[in-house]
Amino acid sequence: MGGRVATETMVRVEDVHKSYGRGVAAVHALRGVSLEVRRGELVALKGRSGSGKTTLLNIVGGLDTPDRGRVEVDGKQLGELGESELLRLRRDRVGFVFQSFGLIPILTAAENVGVPLRLRRADPREREERVELLLSLVGLAGHAAQRPGELSGGQQQRVAIARALANRPALLIADEPTGQLDAETGHAVMELLRAVVRSEQATALVATHDATLLDLADRVLELRDGEITEH
Ligand SMILES: Nc1ncnc2c1ncn2[C@@H]1O[C@H](COP(=O)(O)OP(=O)(O)OP(=O)(O)O)[C@@H](O)[C@H]1O
Ligand SMILES: [Mg+2]
Repeated sequence: MGGRVATETMVRVEDVHKSYGRGVAAVHALRGVSLEVRRGELVALKGRSGSGKTTLLNIVGGLDTPDRGRVEVDGKQLGELGESELLRLRRDRVGFVFQSFGLIPILTAAENVGVPLRLRRADPREREERVELLLSLVGLAGHAAQRPGELSGGQQQRVAIARALANRPALLIADEPTGQLDAETGHAVMELLRAVVRSEQATALVATHDATLLDLADRVLELRDGEITEH
């Protein structure tokens, strides 16, 4: 592959279709979805349960492949990338926040945040500094040594966000990052996301029902039965 082409567009999805199962049992999760996210934008994705949000985020993040259509992330066509190139793109350019947090239970908060940096074999000094900065960014400087089981749900969510930001991802993908939080904590997490997208010059695509983020977003897209509409 040649070098990355620095375009204005961070994500371009063109006529993406995705079905699960076959025949009469087939579920058409995405029916010709197209969208574009420009660099620096925070785009919220809303839609009822089952409308295809997670399916779309997984496809944009290279965790799943479409049946049809094209997906471009950070100047690269995902369909043209080999397994190792896709892995590298996911590891170095994309940060994921899953609804279920996905933290490693036996590692401390600081160690969890440092995992992506270890995978990239970052210099240990650089890693420690970055982890410290991120933990304070998400308001958890005093909780570095606690394991996920010793943190509240909102704190675990913030650790997951810090981890997703560890490698300074060009693209942050978050799937209902406040789904399990109370309104007030959810509020704080969304404002944090908004601030981080600004301060780290990142781009974010966030599935959410949270009114706070819908307000803070640059744009809101809605999925309805696998099709997209813009608000
Ligand atoms: N692995 C799978 N196998 C079969 N069907 C699936 C699979 N994953 C998703 N689906 C179906 O695809 C549709 C879209 O699911 P998806 O998880 O993308 O929705 P969602 O918008 O994220 O919903 P929620 O808000 O509940 O998280 C649903 O009808 C779902 O049942
Ligand atoms: Mg979902």
